[in-house]
This record gives sequence, C-alpha cells and structure tokens, in this order.
Amino acid sequence: MKIGTPKEVFEGERRVAMTPDSAAQLQKLGHECLIETGAGNASGFDDAAYKAAGVEVVKTAAALWKAADVVAKVRVPDTAEMKRLREGQTLISFFSPVADEKKMEAAAKKGATVIAMEMIPRISRAQKMDALSSMANIAGYRAVIEAGNNFGRFFTGQITAAGKVPPAKVLVIGAGVAGLAAIGTSTSLGAITLAFDVRPEVAEQVESMGAEFVYLDFEEEQQDGAVTGGYASVSSPEFREAQLAKFRELAPEVDIVICTALIPNREAPELWTADMVASMKAGSVIVDLAAEKGGNCKQTVMDEKIVTENGVTIIGYTDFPSRMGAQASTLYATNIRHLMTDLTPEKDGVIDHNMEDDVIRGATIAHAEAVTFPPPPPKINAIAQQKNKPAAPKELTPEEKRAAEVAAFKAQTKNQMMLLGAGGALILGIGLIPGMPASFMQHFIVFVLSVFIGFQVIWNVAHSLHTPLMAVTNAISSIIILGALIQVGSSSWLITLLAGLGIFMASVNIFGGFLVTRRMLAMFQKS
Ligand code: NAI
Repeated sequence: MKIGTPKEVFEGERRVAMTPDSAAQLQKLGHECLIETGAGNASGFDDAAYKAAGVEVVKTAAALWKAADVVAKVRVPDTAEMKRLREGQTLISFFSPVADEKKMEAAAKKGATVIAMEMIPRISRAQKMDALSSMANIAGYRAVIEAGNNFGRFFTGQITAAGKVPPAKVLVIGAGVAGLAAIGTSTSLGAITLAFDVRPEVAEQVESMGAEFVYLDFEEEQQDGAVTGGYASVSSPEFREAQLAKFRELAPEVDIVICTALIPNREAPELWTADMVASMKAGSVIVDLAAEKGGNCKQTVMDEKIVTENGVTIIGYTDFPSRMGAQASTLYATNIRHLMTDLTPEKDGVIDHNMEDDVIRGATIAHAEAVTFPPPPPKINAIAQQKNKPAAPKELTPEEKRAAEVAAFKAQTKNQMMLLGAGGALILGIGLIPGMPASFMQHFIVFVLSVFIGFQVIWNVAHSLHTPLMAVTNAISSIIILGALIQVGSSSWLITLLAGLGIFMASVNIFGGFLVTRRMLAMFQKS
C-alpha cells in the first residue's frame, strides 16, 4: 500500500507525520512511502533526506491525497483536506471525534476509514502507539523550559562569591504523562520540586523522580487507575476544598507552577485560583498546559503569555509539542509506524483492519461506511472491573486462622516429603547400577544436594534483592575458581580441560557481575 504524508496546513504547525527513519521502517512492512515536498522542512527533515530513505517526493497535496491509500498526518484535516479524502482511503491523524463530529460523519459517509490517534487506548500494549502520551511528554518537558525562560533566576541553588542563590521551588499539579515529564525536567535542573495528583498511586513515581509528593490531610476512597484506564475521575467537593487549602498555603512560597490536571472529556478543573495568583511573588511563572480545555488557572489566556498586575507570568500556549518539531515529529512518526505494524500483521504491504483488536477498534472512528465512535470499553477495563468487584472477604476467627495455617503447612510439608522421596529413590536407583564407583556416588549426592539447596535459596529471594544476590554468586564463583585451580594441574587431560573451562566460566561470571553491578550503581549516581 502507498502511505502518504502531506504538509500540515494548520498555521504554525511544525510537526510532520513521517520522518526518513519511520519511512524506512514502513518500507520494511512492504509499503511504499510518499511525502509532499517541503512537508518535513519545519522539523529539519528536507526532501533530500526523504529521497535518500527511498520516499517518493510528491509536488502537491492534491497529488499526494490522490495517490496514497493511507494518509498519515498530525492535525485534524481541514475542509479542503476532507474534500480530498475518498472512499476506501484510510486516514490516520489526530481527529477530535467529539468536537469534529460532522467531519467524522462525512468521512464515514464517504466510505473512508479514520483512525484517530488520540483514541488509542491507554493500555500497556498500545503504549508504543500512544501519541497523546508522546506529545504530553514533550509538552511537560517544554513547559519547564518555557517557565525557565521566563523566570529571572536559576533553578538550582548556588553558593557563589557574589552571594547565595536559593533553589527555585516548582509545583507540578497533575502527575500524568506531562506532569511526570515536567517533574523529571525540573528535578534534573536542580529545582525543589513538589507535585500533587488526585491519584495516590502516583506518589511513589513522583518520589522516585526526586520530587516531593504533596499529601493532603484527607481521607477519600482511592481511585483505581486500572478501572479508569489510567485517568482520574471527579473528586468530591470536600476533597477539592482540602486540595485548594493546601495550594493556598503553598502559593506564596512556590516560584513556578506547572498545571497539567485534566479529566478526559471535561473542562479543566480550576485549581490555581485568582487569590493564589495574587499571593505569588513577583517574577513567578505559571505554565498552564490545560489551557486548551479552559485552564487550571482561569486567568490563563489560550495561546498567549500574559503578566498579571503583581508580576506573575502566565503562559497558555497550546502548541508545546510543535515548538519542538524535530523531537515531536520523530516520536509521532514512530507512533504511526507502530500502528502500521499492527495493521500489517503479515508484513506484506497489505492492511488488515482487524476490528476485533482492542487497540485498532478503539482508535477507529469511521469504518465501512459507519461511524464507529465511541468504541466499546477495552476488554482490559472489563477485567479490571471484575477484579475490583467486592469479593466480600470473610473475617476469620483466630481458631479458623490457625486451622488454615496448619492446613497450608501440612500441604507444603507433604509436597516436600514427596519430592525428597522421589529424589532419594532416584539416587538409590543410580547407586544400584552395576559397576557404579563409590566415589562417583559421593560426588553425585553432594551435587544433588547443592542443586537442591541452591534452588531453595535463590527461589525465595525477593526480586529487589537480586543485585546483592549477584555479589553472593561472585563469592560462589570464587570458590569454583579455587577448586578448578587445584584440579587444573591434573595428569588427566579431561580434568585439566574441565578445570580450565570452569576457571573461564567462573571468571566471566565474576567480571560480568562486577560490570553489571557498576552499571546499576551508575544509574543512581548523579554525574
Ligand atoms: P493525563 O491524563 O496523563 O494527566 C492528567 C493528570 O491530572 C492525571 O494524573 C490526573 O490524575 C490528574 N488530575 C486530574 N484532576 C486533578 C485534580 N483535580 N488535581 C490534581 N490532579 C488532577 O494527561 P497528560 O497527557 O499528562 O496531559 C496533561 C495536560 O496537558 C492536558 O490538559 C493536555 O491536554 C495538556 N497538553 C497540553 C499540550 C500543550 O501544548 N499545551 C500538549 C499536550 C498535552
């Protein structure tokens, strides 16, 4: 099939849905690639780079839409592009099926298939195609950079001859994809970073990135990310009040606020109120990523940067990914390439639009002359919901608990006795083989026992302790080397060979162990 990417027509859009790298991968799936001339210029990919990657450069958008069986683009198609969409063609793009319902209906009526990139379900298997996440990641990073650009001080604290500089204090509201990216950027720039989210399960992630999770003194039933597809649901008014009270307390001390809080298909909740803005220090910066959905701060002006009377800069840009065109295009084109891989299971250039596949079904909003939006909930949700059905745990009395423990112990002991019996019988069987030397049996029993003990020891070690375990295996390897050194001078060439091999393998284990341990330690060291 021919996959074509036109130049984006939305004013100021720098991204492009195909890069020379992604085109090379698409060709490996058996597809041909086309690109409109100049489509990649704003992202730093010129026509020559596409040609070198085997992509056909087409002169006009009209010719591209005509030739391509699959059109991959970034922004929702405009009216002219919708006219070009034809029967049997597949369009892969961001589409906003709710806001652009008419366009979706028109596409279905024409008999075109539309895959809306924002509808890719947020499940682990689909992460590689999740363009919302890859764009939000960039937005989170860029939000911090943009804040820094408008903030008159360092992020990191410094002690210089000219005086002591305190570190900046950054508050990230909403620790979803964009929020976590912002937290990572802010901590790596050296700022003291605080973060808040209504989903308590993200606290651990926040803390593992070196930020401090803002806890509320409030009890509310925990939201389960598995049921809500990784998104938050609306919190109670009491919870919101507690949250706002905490933010009010923080407002005078934070220098930068990155707002990313959002519940899908809803207006962004107001979380940074006018009185909080008023209590911030002059020179502080608010970057409101939720600007497109009304903003977490209602003073935010969409697509603009304003400065309040008390000197607080509020940034409401909605094109952060496009501001990093090269990076955003690379990630978006990779998302599309992965989607095409799922659509081309045989890698033969033939598209199999499998509506039984959760991911493809979820993202398809028009297919076979019908509107297929909204999709049914992904099967994984149904499983999560089933899992979360109250299982009515039965409270056991102390006697019942004791009886259950005794029964479990008995079952475990029975299994172990059976295993020991079988092992003993096997050793006895081998020992009864005529001509079996006594010395062999002695070594064999030691070997069987070491395998058994080794297995019992390693099997019961928690995963988190595997690194210290590696150090222990280093010690074991040293014992092996000692044994092999004693044997290596033997008069039998076979024993010398085996001892030599033993020394070699154990050395690999020891030096490999050191290398792996070093690499793991380096991951936790700040350069
Ligand atoms: P996400 O859904 O992964 O994260 C949103 C987070 O907000 C979730 O963790 C959720 O639990 C949290 N949240 C919801 N209500 C909250 C509340 N009341 N208080 C605290 N936390 C709350 O969304 P993602 O992908 O991280 O995007 C974040 C925002 O960034 C969205 O508004 C999105 O539209 C916007 N965005 C903006 C871009 C731009 O250029 N301005 C580009 C990409 C995304």
